[in-house]
Amino acid sequence: MHQQRQSQIHVNKMTKSNITLPLLFALLTFIDASTGSSNVFNVVTFGAKPDGVTDSTGAFLKAWQAACGSAASATVMVPTGTFMVKGITFGGPCKSRLTFQVAGTVVAPADYRAFGNSGYWILFNKVNKMSLVGGTFDARAKGFWACRKAGQNCPPGVRSITFNSGKDVIISGVKSMNSQVTHMALNGCTNVAVRNVKLVAPGDSPNTDGFHIQFSNGVTFTGSTIQTGDDCVAIGPGTRNFLISKLACGPGHGVSIGSLAKDLNEDGVENVTLSSSVFTGTQNGVRIKSWARPSTGFVRNVFFQSLIMKNVQNPIIIDQNYCPSNQGCPTEQSGVAISQVTYKNIQGTSATQQAMKLVCSKTKPCTGITLQDIKLSYNKGTPATSYCFNAIGTSLGLIQPTSCLKR
Ligand SMILES: *[C@@H]1O[C@H](CO)[C@@H](O)[C@H](O)[C@H]1NC(C)=O
Repeated sequence: MHQQRQSQIHVNKMTKSNITLPLLFALLTFIDASTGSSNVFNVVTFGAKPDGVTDSTGAFLKAWQAACGSAASATVMVPTGTFMVKGITFGGPCKSRLTFQVAGTVVAPADYRAFGNSGYWILFNKVNKMSLVGGTFDARAKGFWACRKAGQNCPPGVRSITFNSGKDVIISGVKSMNSQVTHMALNGCTNVAVRNVKLVAPGDSPNTDGFHIQFSNGVTFTGSTIQTGDDCVAIGPGTRNFLISKLACGPGHGVSIGSLAKDLNEDGVENVTLSSSVFTGTQNGVRIKSWARPSTGFVRNVFFQSLIMKNVQNPIIIDQNYCPSNQGCPTEQSGVAISQVTYKNIQGTSATQQAMKLVCSKTKPCTGITLQDIKLSYNKGTPATSYCFNAIGTSLGLIQPTSCLKR
């Protein structure tokens, strides 16, 4: 239905501008072919301008609403060009499968103050059966980082791309640049495949996490590149059945489970696998981090395997004594129970001598830790060392530096 209306508009315009009949037919055929059997809702048709300056927020929303209300599967199309979009919420669930296809670049307003305290730039809320495909999203956060670094009174910052309560979602071939804070976040999502995304910000940009996940089940994150100022991947409470593979991380702070135990009543993290990935010049490789505070949280069934560390400061680290600035927890112990964590086939170089550090809670030891085929060397020709506190488990194969686990 909508298709016909669109074609009608085109015909009217073209007739007015005295286009010859054969050309008109050719154009009509082209329109038919390009829209094909699926419904394509081009943001330009709804008034978006590819000039990088005009506010296209309203046009994006109208295109979304039209596509989202379509009974047949529909595509929101963002063509080549640069589109400026302010804080926007794409609400679901939609009537049918929706593809959000981006060929061009979407940029945030030049002035970071335009976002206020919202916390989001582009938010997909409660979408179901949706794909976000391609495109570059540039939050242009230089001014925001400068504000932060100067310790001024800055807004809290916005995440670039967020999915809240999404179900059956595919995110593929998306590039996010210069986020204010987190590049891409999943919160309360089920069954999500993230493939070949590129998340890029300077190594010294403050708090620019790459991918953040929490309260989500059944997420795969494959073939992605993350170069950023904070965690490449941050895994929060309520994450279950999360699989990361073929990740290239660095610069950045590595892959972190945590920080956990922020709250007393907190959900756990369960069934996380990270494999076949490379860390280059990062602060951490694989880290599990919790505040030294009481908590109902836990971490169990975690597999870190086939990882390469290149000049990484803390290739393998558990830190349950996290208490920055000694605020609120200097005399406390972490209540987060860590169990069944396997480190297998992890090789490469450590930028500090202590390549392996497993510091668990004083009251809840880490149990069921497995080290297998670990070969980490220190850069300066001195052997690497390991340090454990309350870490219990078994070692298999060659372990270098020597295992410090208690049996
Ligand atoms: C964790 O993985 C195991 C083995 O695949 C599975 O049986 C279990 O149900 C998973 N746990 C959750 C909470 O999904």
